Amino acid sequence: MNTEAVAKTCIGCSISGSFSLLCPNCLKFGKNDSIFCTQECFKKNWSQHKVIHKTLMTTNNNNNKIAETYNPWPNYDFTGPLRPVYPLSLKRSVAEHIERPDYADHPLGESKCEQSIKGSTHIKVLDDEEIEGVRVAGLLARQVMDVAYSAIAIGVTTDEVDRLVHEACIERDCYPSPLNYYNFPKSCCTSVNEVICHGIPDQRPLEDGDLCNVDITIFHRGFHGDLNETFFVGNVSEEAKRLVKTTWESLQKAIELIKPGEKYREIGNVIQKHVQSQGYSVVKSYCGHGIHRLFHTAPQVPHYAKNKAMGVMKAGHCFTIEPMISEGTWRDECWPDDWTAVTKDGKLSAQFEQTFLVTDTGYEILTRRRSHNGLPYFMD
Ligand code: MF3
Ligand code: CO
Ligand code: CO
Repeated sequence: MNTEAVAKTCIGCSISGSFSLLCPNCLKFGKNDSIFCTQECFKKNWSQHKVIHKTLMTTNNNNNKIAETYNPWPNYDFTGPLRPVYPLSLKRSVAEHIERPDYADHPLGESKCEQSIKGSTHIKVLDDEEIEGVRVAGLLARQVMDVAYSAIAIGVTTDEVDRLVHEACIERDCYPSPLNYYNFPKSCCTSVNEVICHGIPDQRPLEDGDLCNVDITIFHRGFHGDLNETFFVGNVSEEAKRLVKTTWESLQKAIELIKPGEKYREIGNVIQKHVQSQGYSVVKSYCGHGIHRLFHTAPQVPHYAKNKAMGVMKAGHCFTIEPMISEGTWRDECWPDDWTAVTKDGKLSAQFEQTFLVTDTGYEILTRRRSHNGLPYFMD
């Protein structure tokens, strides 16, 4: 959209024109649409206008008012202490020579390829060339995750992590799969503390004791690779560490099941059994998924017990397992940004994800860590 061509309305007297005088206080909070026609009109309306500065203020995690933070949803009742920190940085671009998925240029980010087979339970068996394609995508996705991990530190914003992830993708001739997927605005997901998944990188600096999950998906020469890990920021409480360890263990136990002939619905039984034994709960709204030329496709892989998932594993299937495990309730809700999934009780949630290929004898972890014996970063 060419914003220059759009007539603007003065919020003081409602006349239209090409005005550029913005309220400096609103701007400080990241609100950039408080437009006035003239300085005189701004002055005349000041006593009425200034009351909105109060609603633009939010509270930080220590319950102190911080003037720099703009609350985009003054009427939303947050479930926990985490707040978004706006404004988001501008949309990043991807060099033209890099192959793009079909949704990259759709106005709503819709994937016509995914939609055309939506609801089908058929699971694609990859041929040798496609297997090579997903292997390379998995390797590159892991390399990008290594870059993300090296950026995690107290004081670093999740937007800065996103910038490094975006650049690491471009350097490897990868399109960052989340970017514009159903209009997701950033190149990776960063899910802090009570965020279950799909957190949007923003201007919030990571704090000592945070859990921060980074979910990386890349698209390289026609194939996606998808993984995520939960990282410790600074010194994390022993309770939080136990949640993360249990989440990782539950994925490990699920992996042991992977072989031709196994039912996809068994995965959830193994995960929930372990998680429940530790007093935690399994999120039900989000599942693992088939992945190859499409980002999300059959099979659907629920992480909870007694699910009715369709399908039996066959050599050549490619899919993710990505359990989201919560300290308290398994129930989730979504922030008004329509992406950020949070726990209903505001307690912590953790997640790990890998992309797998089913082989004749079992599995290959396409997104495995190539150092530290493949162990997760939180154990470093
Ligand atoms: N990577 C996520 C997954 O594991 C999906 C993110 S979709 C996005 O399935 F649009 F939020 F990026
Ligand atoms: Co996934
Ligand atoms: Co993912």
